[in-house]
Amino acid sequence: MSSVAYLVFVHYGFYKLVIKSMRRVKIIGTGSYVPEKVLTNRDLEKIVDTSDEWIRTRTGMSERHIASEKDKASDLAIKAAHRALKDNNIPSEDIDIILVATATPDMFFPSTACFVQSSIGTKRSVAFDISAACSGYIFALSVAEQYIKSGKYTTVLLVSTEVCSRYIDWTDRNTCVLFGDGAAATVLKGVNGNRKDGIISTHIYSDGRYADLLYMRGGGSSYPLNHESIDNKLHFLKMKGNALFKIAVKNMTEVAREALAFNGYKISDIDLLIPHQANKRIIDAVAKNLDIPQEKIFINIEKYGNTSAVSIPLALDEALKEGRIEKGDLILMVAFGGGLTWGSALIKW
Ligand code: COA
Repeated sequence: MSSVAYLVFVHYGFYKLVIKSMRRVKIIGTGSYVPEKVLTNRDLEKIVDTSDEWIRTRTGMSERHIASEKDKASDLAIKAAHRALKDNNIPSEDIDIILVATATPDMFFPSTACFVQSSIGTKRSVAFDISAACSGYIFALSVAEQYIKSGKYTTVLLVSTEVCSRYIDWTDRNTCVLFGDGAAATVLKGVNGNRKDGIISTHIYSDGRYADLLYMRGGGSSYPLNHESIDNKLHFLKMKGNALFKIAVKNMTEVAREALAFNGYKISDIDLLIPHQANKRIIDAVAKNLDIPQEKIFINIEKYGNTSAVSIPLALDEALKEGRIEKGDLILMVAFGGGLTWGSALIKW
């Protein structure tokens, strides 16, 4: 190699490195979809021994949306995905990768992401699911961030979708009042330049020692579906609510503090906190620990209940459409879910 060619080669490598380090991940479209059917606390009073008063005061929930019998997780996901793409007129051919965050997929395989891909017609995009229960969106966001920052992909369609109602024991008042169905999509794009907007950081964590606090045992290789597993109700979600509550408050508080400290921000710098919506009392306890005022927290749990991986992107989509987020705002998202899993995303809008 001549010395000139060598210099060009070295400079080109250096230039690519600089571009990569300046590559930012921006959310360029959001959309959501919830099924039409609404199940109110009053409706639940007719199903199990509960009351509107108990549900509202213990959880902050008033109603939740329930998928129709024919709707699968992918059906909700596809509707949300179309809305997110239309949000900014993003052509589906631009999508390099489709990530679907769900704990309630259409089936074990193919992945729900493959059904989404075939419906929205992006033949060249790779598609796969991410399983991290209620933290699924933040985990998928973190995966998307790595792919985009590394330069491997430019445009990511991330869809969270859940049909929780299908895994609920409708005779168990401890769980059936808590969950709802829906889907929410986010389109992310890699952009270059030295502006500061986009994802600032994501932090994700797992601790499998606490797997028995929230699980759905039946149907997998440990408890395949058969008469016995169904008689024992293993195909329904089980939860130890009290223990989860305490860990959720502790871990969401810690991960929020970590996101701020890691990036040199104070809680007063945050314009909007978007927490996972599992229980209004969990959100209140985290807010108290962080010392963040209520008006800086986005809460829509009263309308949707806990929609698992959908709750944060659904809240984000609503916050944007309600004008609660402006250019330059600092947004902190914190999630918590079965696994256990938890995490944060700090975003400059
Ligand atoms: N209606 C009326 N009473 C109910 C009820 C309902 N829907 N569900 C439970 N109860 C009863 C219990 O049976 C218990 O009665 P008992 O004292 O006679 O045994 C009583 O209410 C208190 O139960 P407890 O579990 O202590 O209530 P709680 O205040 O902890 O609230 C949860 C229960 C589930 C709402 C709450 O623990 C929670 O939200 N946990 C975290 C959930 C979570 O994070 N889930 C998903 C993670 S992503």
